[in-house]
This record gives sequence, structure tokens and C-alpha cells, in this order.
Amino acid sequence: MLFKQQVWLRQKLLVLGSLAVGSLLYLVARVGSLDRLQPICPIEGRFGARGQAEFPLRALQFKRGLLHEFRKGNVSKEQVRLHDLVQQLPKAIIIGVRKGGTRALLEMLNLHPAVVKASQEIHFFDNDENYAKGIEWYRKKMPFSYPQQITIEKSPAYFITEEVPERIYKMNSSIKLLIIVREPTTRAISDYTQVLEGKERKNKTYYKFEKLAIDPNTCEVNTKYKAVRTSIYTKHLERWLKYFPIEQFHIVDGDRLITEPLPELQLVEKFLNLPPRISQYNLYFNVTRGFYCLRFNVIFNKCLAGSKGRIHPEVDPSVVTKLRKFFHPFNQKFYQITGRTLNWP
Ligand code: A3P
Repeated sequence: MLFKQQVWLRQKLLVLGSLAVGSLLYLVARVGSLDRLQPICPIEGRFGARGQAEFPLRALQFKRGLLHEFRKGNVSKEQVRLHDLVQQLPKAIIIGVRKGGTRALLEMLNLHPAVVKASQEIHFFDNDENYAKGIEWYRKKMPFSYPQQITIEKSPAYFITEEVPERIYKMNSSIKLLIIVREPTTRAISDYTQVLEGKERKNKTYYKFEKLAIDPNTCEVNTKYKAVRTSIYTKHLERWLKYFPIEQFHIVDGDRLITEPLPELQLVEKFLNLPPRISQYNLYFNVTRGFYCLRFNVIFNKCLAGSKGRIHPEVDPSVVTKLRKFFHPFNQKFYQITGRTLNWP
């Protein structure tokens, strides 16, 4: 009898316990989704002192922007209209460099409540067909945001495309331009790795990096190879400087963004005149991934896709040395022009 009672009591406790845990989980999820859909304070005063006020609808931006939520039907037209949400042209653009860490930079900046990212690379200024569609087409590609927020887009091809500086200048001559760079040889190998992976996916063979980067006739660095040319940062920057003063550029150290993202992001916040809001809480190192990942709140974390942070093929050390020697004078010039010295060999 006593044994039966004990079993009954244990079962009851188990049911009650599950109910309590279930309710708690429901509440946590509910609070999360409410936070996503309801403004929690008026728009005014959102840029006050640190911790003074929260940014409304913050979490709505966290995945693919409000526009995405809107398209999915999670946000009504009425909500968009009520909250004065607008599609704004970017106030800042990450213009490059390809494989410099452009995606990581954009996603990390998007942690800031005053920043709204354009999730896709829009390729407006580097693609003639898109550019011909006009500035309204471009604006319509932007996510919804509050007028006080700033929209940022990234299209790394902008940095190396001839026509882009003039086109951006025509849109907004005082726009802020972000360039994220990595040690040029590593960047070139990363660039190669991306192309190689694309070939392998299509079951195609591809040349070894060494064969592309070094001209077999002269045994010198092959400057016709795009991955090499892209890494001559100073050459591209000089074209941009015909339109924009150097003060409108900010150089992000892509190698440091990998190992120590917060100080790099704080420099960008300053450059964009944003109050410092990104903190160490928002960035945590994921050992499995081998990279920093993003924490938006207790519920929502994310790491970048697997296509970011690929394993590079081994490259003949003599080729690496040759490339580093080749890039050295261009790097010196780059430091001199930008006023940012990086620890590249
Ligand atoms: P690798 O794949 O060579 O490692 P982009 O976004 O411009 O294509 O740059 C990709 C690079 O971003 C990756 O190059 C990776 O090293 C770097 N990166 C920087 N921070 C990262 C992060 N937190 N997670 C994943 N990749 C990151």
C-alpha cells in the first residue's frame, strides 16, 4: 500500500515538474516573441546615455531584417506604418574587400540597435544592369528601419570595380565607407579557396594556387591573377580617393576581427558616430566553430555559415614568401595613406 502511494506521489511530482518546466519554457519563448513584435519604449530618446533606454523592435532586425519578417507575414503593413518604418538608402557601405571578413563585419555591426543591415549583397553600383534600374530600385532593396537608424549594406565587389566610386559619390558624396582588409597573401589564398570549392562542387578540377599566383615564364608574381590584384589594396583605394577624402573611409583590421572582434567594432561605432552599444556579451567564442559567434539575447545566438572560415589548402612556403615580399611595398603605401599600420609581414 505504502509502496503504491509512493509511486503515485512520484508520478504526480513528475507531472507537476514537467508542467512547471513547460510553462517556464513557454514564458521564455513568449517574452522573446513579444519583444520581437512590440515596441518597448517610445522612439524618442533612444540614443541617450548607455543603458538609459532600449531600442524598440530591436529583435525584429536580428535575423533577416524587418522587411523579411514583413514578407513572412509576422509584421503587418499597419505595424510598419504605425512605427514610421522606412526603407532608407545606406549611410555607410562596406565596400570590400572580398574575403576580408565583410559578412562577419556586417553581421556584427547589426548587433547595434541603431544599425539595420541589408542582408543580401545588392550589387547595385557594380552591376550595370542593376544600376540602370535607378536609385529607387536600390532603396526598395533596403530593409525597413526607423528614421533614426542607419542602414548598412555590403557588396565587396564595389572596392575593385572601376565605375563604383563615381556612382556612389553621385548618390551621396558624404557617405561613410568601410573597408575590411586582411593580410594580403592570406586574403588571396582565401579568395582562391572559395573559387576552388565552387569548382569542386561542380566536380571540376582546378589549378593549384601556386600555378595561378606565380607566372611560370618569369617565376614572378602573376599580377594578372585576380586574387593577387584584389590584394593590392592601395591601387584600388587610390581610385576611390579621386572622389572621397580619406576621412570618409575607415579601415577595419579583418585579422583582428577574427581574434578580437570587440575593439574593432568599437572603432567602427566611433567612426559611424554611434553610441557604444556592442559589448562582449554580444560576442562569444565558439570552440567547435573556431570563431566568434553572435549573441543577440538569451534566446538568439548565431554563428556565421560554414562557408565563412574555410580550411585553406597548404601553399608552398616559398610562394607565400614571394607573395609577401611582393605585397610589402604596396602595404607600406596603404598604411601611409590610411594612417592605419597593420602588422603584416
Ligand atoms: P576564410 O574562409 O578564409 O577563413 P567574407 O565574408 O568577406 O567573404 O570573408 C570571409 C572571412 O571572414 C573568412 O575567411 C573568415 O576567416 C572571416 N571571419 C571573420 N570573422 C569571422 C567569424 N566570426 N566567423 C566566421 N568567419 C569569420
